[in-house]
This record gives sequence, C-alpha cells and structure tokens, in this order.
Amino acid sequence: MSTTSLISRALLQRLDSARQLTDWIFRLLTPEALYSRPIPERHRLIFYLGHLEAFDWNLICRKTLQFVSFCPQFDTLFEFGIDPPVGQAATDQPSDWPNVQEVQAYNRSVRARIDQLFDLRSEQSIPEQILNVALEHRLMHAETLAYLLHNLPYDQKASVSVPLVHSAELLANPMIQIAPGFATLGQKRGEFGWDNEFDEQQVDVPGFRVSKYKITNGQYLDFVNEGAAPPHFWSRRGEKWFYHGMFSEVPLPVNAPVYVTHSEAVSYARWSGTKLPTEAQFHRAAFSVPDHETQVSDVPGSIPAHRTRAHETSDRYERPYPWGDHSPDETHGNFDFHHWDPVDVNATPAGDSASGVSQLVGNGWEWTATKFGPFPGFQPMLFYPGYSQNFFDEEHYVMKGGSPVTAACMLRRSFRNWFRPNYPYVYASFRLVED
Ligand SMILES: [Fe+2]
Repeated sequence: MSTTSLISRALLQRLDSARQLTDWIFRLLTPEALYSRPIPERHRLIFYLGHLEAFDWNLICRKTLQFVSFCPQFDTLFEFGIDPPVGQAATDQPSDWPNVQEVQAYNRSVRARIDQLFDLRSEQSIPEQILNVALEHRLMHAETLAYLLHNLPYDQKASVSVPLVHSAELLANPMIQIAPGFATLGQKRGEFGWDNEFDEQQVDVPGFRVSKYKITNGQYLDFVNEGAAPPHFWSRRGEKWFYHGMFSEVPLPVNAPVYVTHSEAVSYARWSGTKLPTEAQFHRAAFSVPDHETQVSDVPGSIPAHRTRAHETSDRYERPYPWGDHSPDETHGNFDFHHWDPVDVNATPAGDSASGVSQLVGNGWEWTATKFGPFPGFQPMLFYPGYSQNFFDEEHYVMKGGSPVTAACMLRRSFRNWFRPNYPYVYASFRLVED
C-alpha cells in the first residue's frame, strides 16, 4: 500500500468518526425539531442534515474528480440553502424542504460513493488537503449544530448530559505578568490549515498582564448588578440567576466562564479599566515559554532570572499547545464533546500554559481585540475562495482557543475562528489584559 493510500485511510477513519458524531447529534432531535429554525439568522436544521453530505459530494466528487451529479437539485439546495429576499428575514416554510427520508437516502448515496474512492481498487486519488477540508468542515458544523440545538426548547431534544459539578465560592482571578517577546501567528506552508492560517509570521509583543482565568459568571454578575444587560445564556427567576444549559437550566455556576458577545466583553473590559487581548497577546499568554531559554534555576523567593531574559533570546521555541506537546486529552481542558456545557475555570490545571494561564484552549472560545483579516501572504483556497475572504470586512473579530464542542484537531495553535461582535449564540468567553 502506498503512503498516500495509508494517509487517506487514516483520514477516512477520522471522517467516519466525524460522521458518527454528526449522526449522533441529529439523533438527539425530535422529528418536528428537524424542521425548526432555533436561531433566526441560520437555516432550518433540515438544511444541515443535507449540507454535510452535499458539501463533501460537491467538493470531493464534483469539483475535484469531475463526477456527474446523481441529484443536482439536492447538490444545490444543500450547498446554499434557501436564501431570503435581499434585506429580509428568511421566509421559507418547513414544507419548502424535502422530507427526511429523501435527505437520508441522498446522504447514504453520497457516503457510499465517497467510501468507494477509498477502496484499494479505486483509480481515483483524493488530495489530502481536500479530505482535511471535508473533515474539519463537518467538525465545525458539529459545533454549529450544538449551539443551534442549545437554542431549541428542552422538549425538542433528548438529554444526554451528566450534570456538572461546580464550586460555589467565587474564585479570585489574579493578573499574570507575561514578558515581552515574539509570538508566531499562522501555520507553516506544507502543514494543513485553512487559508486564513497562512503565511506564518512572527510579531513582537510588549510585556503585559493577563487574567489567569477566563472572566466568570460570578465576576460578570457584578457588572449586571450595576445595570448591564444579562448575557443570552442567563435567565432570572425572582432574585435568582440561572444558566440556560444545553439540556437543563441550572443555578448560575459562578466559577464557570461567562459566554458573551464581543460587544459585551468590550463593555465589561471598559467598565473594569482593562482591555481584551489582541490575537498576538493571546498567543504570548498561551504558547510562549519563559523557562526555555536558560538553565538558570529558580531561587526560592527571588524573581527568576530567565523571566527578564525571554525577549533577548534568539531561540524561537514556542509550545504547540499551552500545556506542551502532548496530544490534547480530557485533562487539558473542556473540548472535543466530553461535555456540552462549561466547567469551572480552574477545573483543568493540567492544561495551564508555561506562564500559568488557565484554559486558553477549550471551555469557550476567547474573543480578541483583533479584527479578522488576512496574514501577509494570504491566498484564498481555489476550491473554496469565500471561506475566509468573504469575512475580511472589518466587521468580524478573531476568536481563539475552542469550546466544549470544538474537536481536538482544531485546537492547533494557528486555528482562527471569527464572528460578528453582536452574535450572542456561540460559546465565546473572554479574559482581560493590562499593558
Ligand atoms: Fe458549511
């Protein structure tokens, strides 16, 4: 077997796991829920049932291998959806969509055709980049599906969650000093990444202070008590606040990260006399290694010499993950669908960065102050030119890290997510910096 087919088979196994994940999410829905639209700005859920397979089919079979379509109507419907008239809200009705059995039959046909390509006798070879795009596209939609389902009434989805344990006494959230130094943004050519991850570049970052933890519900409550509007995920009954979880409402977990919009995060930062980190500051807090450059050992009670020398070193080492180079697992943070809701901000200390900053990966994306834009050397992907470019409009902000429902492969350092500043549905947290 050639190396290429070995790689393809490994990717096929990952694609198979991703299919099982998205199938599982769809099975949580009641039949009528599949035709509902839990978030007004998004499609009815039935669209996503067909979209995942239509995307794979259109990308792999039609565009890459020039196959002739067996169902052009679904290829188009489930690639784009039903667009509302310009400037108007969506007006499509459930009856405008095919029935579930038809969509499932289309999906089975697509999967069978794609799986055949991985057969050893197949003459076709699929570029690895195309397979990675299909895989991560599906996993990104698994996350999108999760937050769409989050906004469904509880009686329209089956509960599969185990209640999380939260501490009740509000944690202190100290500021941690990060030494000046460089940060590497982006990804080396030759590695897989989406177009917006290229080219790799190094930037200098002055020293700053960053909160050890993400800002918690308990911290944000002080802001709400002073008149700020409560976040989308909160509700109030009498004097008590609740967190609207995926499968049940629970008393507000004060030490879990607060999920807010970018605008809310900026308002909180202004209120507290601080700022959101830039994308480069996030990278410094997460991946820089103050201890690496020198062998000088710490003398108890003194400021370690190496902390003042980090910037002077010519060594360009950074960690691939905040905790080091181990593959991400459940001890490092809350990601990869182990939980549907956030855990406390101090629940996963094994994932701390070298500087002692917690949960830079998982438990909620982190808003940055950086507007989403291209890195120097950016080139749109020829087979998917609008993936990033359509959003270089100064109206989207970069998010880093990952949420409870972000797949582990997308926790790589260079991965960038982006949203509009007032979009309230994503699992987006924040932390603060001071110059
Ligand atoms: Fe998509």
